[in-house]
Amino acid sequence: MKTVLITGCSSGFGLETAQYFLDRDWNVIATMRTPREDVLPRSARLRVLALDVTDADSIRRAVEAAGPIDVLVNNAGVGMLGALEGAAIDTARAIFETNTIGTMAMTQAVLPQFRQRKAGVVVNVTSSVTLKPLPLLSVYTASKAAVNAFTESLALELLQFNVRVHIVLPGRAPETRFGANAQARIQIPEEYAGLAQDVFAEWSKQTEVTRGSDVAEAVWRAANDPACPMRIAAGADAVALSEMD
Ligand SMILES: NC(=O)c1ccc[n+]([C@@H]2O[C@H](COP(=O)([O-])OP(=O)(O)OC[C@H]3O[C@@H](n4cnc5c(N)ncnc54)[C@H](OP(=O)(O)O)[C@@H]3O)[C@@H](O)[C@H]2O)c1
Repeated sequence: MKTVLITGCSSGFGLETAQYFLDRDWNVIATMRTPREDVLPRSARLRVLALDVTDADSIRRAVEAAGPIDVLVNNAGVGMLGALEGAAIDTARAIFETNTIGTMAMTQAVLPQFRQRKAGVVVNVTSSVTLKPLPLLSVYTASKAAVNAFTESLALELLQFNVRVHIVLPGRAPETRFGANAQARIQIPEEYAGLAQDVFAEWSKQTEVTRGSDVAEAVWRAANDPACPMRIAAGADAVALSEMD
């Protein structure tokens, strides 16, 4: 029986992906900054561990406690919306610390076991905003585009050890807690209020969105199908963008 470790399972895509793998008889290590046993159904195949991807000690403890894993899903991430002019650089740094460096640090922590076993898969959840630029998302997009580039280079490095690395690119998913969690990081100066209004109006018109199940399915495919592409768009809006690419 295979084991997946997923970051950021308290809500949204991480939670849905954990449930998806549990339903398909995998062992699941659902990690959360604040572990909660009540968000997933009880199962002998489920372990909930504490993990903050910005904290080196927390990463070391979680990876040690997890033991051998077959698949790592770097899903934990935070959003930031606003014009660069009004953005606090410390906030930009924090976005990169979670979305980009957190992904690198988690990947690094599991690589020794993958290399020794000559097996393993890393799935990095980025975003369809890296397929088509949108205004007011410059820092967030940069943090995810960096993960795309990181993943593509790393894949070449790990080919010799039979370790696969994939990118899942979800579209916009209003149903997760992502928007609410990013509230404190919305920084729109007055001069950009008109642009922000236009952006929000455009979003509200969009009918195609991404659901948690789209992301769970894409992660499942990356984990189980060695022939699948390196980049997998997840969600109708993301798939449409990837086809225009
Ligand atoms: N929703 C969208 O529109 C969308 C679109 C494209 C890509 N994405 C990406 O998809 C991923 C999941 O997002 P989501 O929509 O499911 O949002 P979400 O509901 O806000 O989930 C994000 C998860 O990441 C966790 N997290 C945040 N900082 C962390 C840290 N330092 N260490 C460990 N976990 C941390 C959160 O945990 P806490 O509960 O502790 O905060 C939460 O469990 C993110 O990487 C996001 O960038 C989202």
